[in-house]
Amino acid sequence: MTKKTTWSDRFESALHPAIAIFNASIGFDIELIEYDLTGSIAHAQMLGQTGIITTEEVAQLVAGLEQIRQEYYQGEFTPGVEAEDIHFAVERRLTEIVGDVGKKLHTARSRNDQIGTDVRLYLREEITNIRGKLREFQLVLLELAENNVETLIPGYTHLQRAQPLSLAHHLLAYVQMAQRDWERLADVYKRTNISPLGCGALAGTTFPIDRQYSAELLNFDAVYENSLDGVSDRDFAIEFLCAASLIMVHLSRLSEEMILWASEEFNFVKLKDSCATGSSIMPQKKNPDVPELVRGKTGRVFGHLQALLVIMKGLPLAYNKDLQEDKEGLFDGVKTVKASLEAMTILLADGIEFNTTRLNNAVGEDFSNATDVADYLAAKGIPFREAYNLVGKVVKKSLAVGKLLKDLTLEEWQQLHPAFEADIYQAIAPRTVVSARNSYGGTGFEQVKAAIARAKSRLNI
Ligand code: ARG
Repeated sequence: MTKKTTWSDRFESALHPAIAIFNASIGFDIELIEYDLTGSIAHAQMLGQTGIITTEEVAQLVAGLEQIRQEYYQGEFTPGVEAEDIHFAVERRLTEIVGDVGKKLHTARSRNDQIGTDVRLYLREEITNIRGKLREFQLVLLELAENNVETLIPGYTHLQRAQPLSLAHHLLAYVQMAQRDWERLADVYKRTNISPLGCGALAGTTFPIDRQYSAELLNFDAVYENSLDGVSDRDFAIEFLCAASLIMVHLSRLSEEMILWASEEFNFVKLKDSCATGSSIMPQKKNPDVPELVRGKTGRVFGHLQALLVIMKGLPLAYNKDLQEDKEGLFDGVKTVKASLEAMTILLADGIEFNTTRLNNAVGEDFSNATDVADYLAAKGIPFREAYNLVGKVVKKSLAVGKLLKDLTLEEWQQLHPAFEADIYQAIAPRTVVSARNSYGGTGFEQVKAAIARAKSRLNI
């Protein structure tokens, strides 16, 4: 590298070309340009407000920074590795545009508080974007739920048929998960939206800066209380990746269900052509690539969380170059969560069709009404455990003769226990079984309708 670097006057020789590349972050922190410019404009205005530079100088700096913004969007600002990072790239170009006054921008600031500011400005915007996408995801689920209150679906525990459910109830479980994700992100936002600007390299600055003023210009809620903490804290990014990981957990569980449901064995949903792919060799195949990819991408986001935790755990205060490694994982985490939410929303809205006939029939072909037989007896005063044991024997016997509970004759029922009456058939019909679970938060149709109403009012619809 023969080009002059910021510290060439201090150093004897230039950086080894390979090390220059190794050291540079411009390849990925260019993504922060918008925030770097916005942060620099606020910093310049604060320098003017406090009289550290003149109003005229502020105007020149701001105009120059705005010009860089324009150049970037016109594809004319493409700094290379010689710039090292976004901060040097901008400062260098600024000085080319406005002359020596450009060199005043970095007064009372360090790249350490600058990058902290940039990443927080970036992340708070992306948190808002992701929360918007969570809402869209919830809306699609809610619409599906509303259309399927009375569609029945087998409910599972241990992936064994357990008790039948309203399909809407199943879908609403994901609305709840997304609600927690939405709330969790609001909480992460609070700790992301704090300004480290003015913490300097680590110790603050000798200039009479006004940190509150620049924080206000940037719409931060508060400023970091301690300059060492301000430049070296990445808790907010870890918290975000944790919240992002949980979003992915939820999407991945839904994906797994979609994949199972689309299989021939379950046959609960049909994949539409818009969201499925074929095989290059097996002509009959229709593959659930979308949920498979979401399930697969989940690992990346977990990985980014793990990586950042490990980056942080051994760092002495304050800034260390290790912190440059926080960005790529964070950026990829943001992109992956957004893309996955979008893809799952499209899949639910346009990519699947519930096989409602099959679903409604499926719940009548098993012993998932066995609990209801026990409940029937218990309601007549027979102790539940006794009733449970009795029904266990009935199931065993029925299985042996290849019958379902609904196929037993009234005589057979009464031989088992005299308390059985003709209404047993009605009591164990899948629709009755589902609608009878009318406890708060249960799958009974009335409960499901109430849950939909609550979710809608939460979403202001
Ligand atoms: N590119 C650096 C980063 O991403 C900016 C801060 C550099 N600070 C320093 N003291 N070298 O963290």
